[in-house]
Amino acid sequence: MRLMSIEIPPIWDQVAGRCLTENLRRILVLGAADRGKSTLCRFLVSRFSQEGAQAVLVDADVGQKDVGPPATVTRGYLQSPSDPYSLMLDGLYFIGAVTPVRHLLPMVVGTRDVVDSAGDAFVVVNTTGFIEGVGYALKSYKIEALRPDLLIAVDPNHETASIAASYPQYRWVRLPPSARVVAKSRAMRREARQRAFAAYFAGRPKIELDLQTVAFQRNPAFVRSLTSSRQTSPPPAGRHLLCGLCDATGRCLGLGTLDALDRRARVLSFVTPVSGPEVRIVQSGDLYISPDGEELGRTR
Ligand SMILES: Nc1ncnc2c1ncn2[C@@H]1O[C@H](COP(=O)(O)OP(=O)(O)OP(=O)(O)O)[C@@H](O)[C@H]1O
Ligand SMILES: [Mg+2]
Repeated sequence: MRLMSIEIPPIWDQVAGRCLTENLRRILVLGAADRGKSTLCRFLVSRFSQEGAQAVLVDADVGQKDVGPPATVTRGYLQSPSDPYSLMLDGLYFIGAVTPVRHLLPMVVGTRDVVDSAGDAFVVVNTTGFIEGVGYALKSYKIEALRPDLLIAVDPNHETASIAASYPQYRWVRLPPSARVVAKSRAMRREARQRAFAAYFAGRPKIELDLQTVAFQRNPAFVRSLTSSRQTSPPPAGRHLLCGLCDATGRCLGLGTLDALDRRARVLSFVTPVSGPEVRIVQSGDLYISPDGEELGRTR
């Protein structure tokens, strides 16, 4: 059992027990990068599930995902309650970028959406390591949007002190990081994202969408570039653009990368694991991803 390889400080058990006895169902975990946030979140979901509670992880770290592909806010449950690594994807909101910078609105709206659709389960929300500058704003609005029952700051150096000071009306717990935390370099983070995108898109078929049967969301410049008379697609509708593909109700089914635009036939094709007939909405993202998962650049 992989839980054995995780160091579980006694305070983690105490916090989990408190959540269960005090019925603290919405838990937001904050902290800088490399603090052990993901490990703590998985532990909490595992402990709640083992106690027989319905529990889910909401993964709002768009860059270093624990469940689902990068550039999304996702929800997952444990297939096996005792295995914190057995997360199964069961909800997804498309962000279209691997950093929240310049995407604060979808980050807040998406996290709220994925949390709300979890019903009254215990929801543990993991976040990116951005806590200063734009990160302070993001975390502030997330707190206001989610109204968590408990905020957990994994915070050895008081990095989250200014956020905690701004929201004194909430319950806060401050935890030290585990001594076993292993830090990741920027290059390691980028490689992890590339592997995750590659695994998501590898060997996936192409689907074709009739331009007249789908709606387009998120970027008006994308819609304009679809109707441009130029033969080569101007950005942002260029090849490999990462998009979210949704059903008629707006539920995101998964990601696709734009493969080709045939204006004469009015057909748009995507490489994606999503089945074509269900797709009714295309949400354009801010990132180009090669078939082997490499980040090729941004639209803006
Ligand atoms: N309690 C722990 N016991 C054993 N190893 C741990 C523990 N916490 C963290 N680690 C190790 O440190 C690594 C980084 O931890 P983790 O991914 O949880 O941090 P994070 O704060 O979520 O990082 P990021 O900034 O990428 O989101 C883990 O892959 C794991 O190897
Ligand atoms: Mg993490």
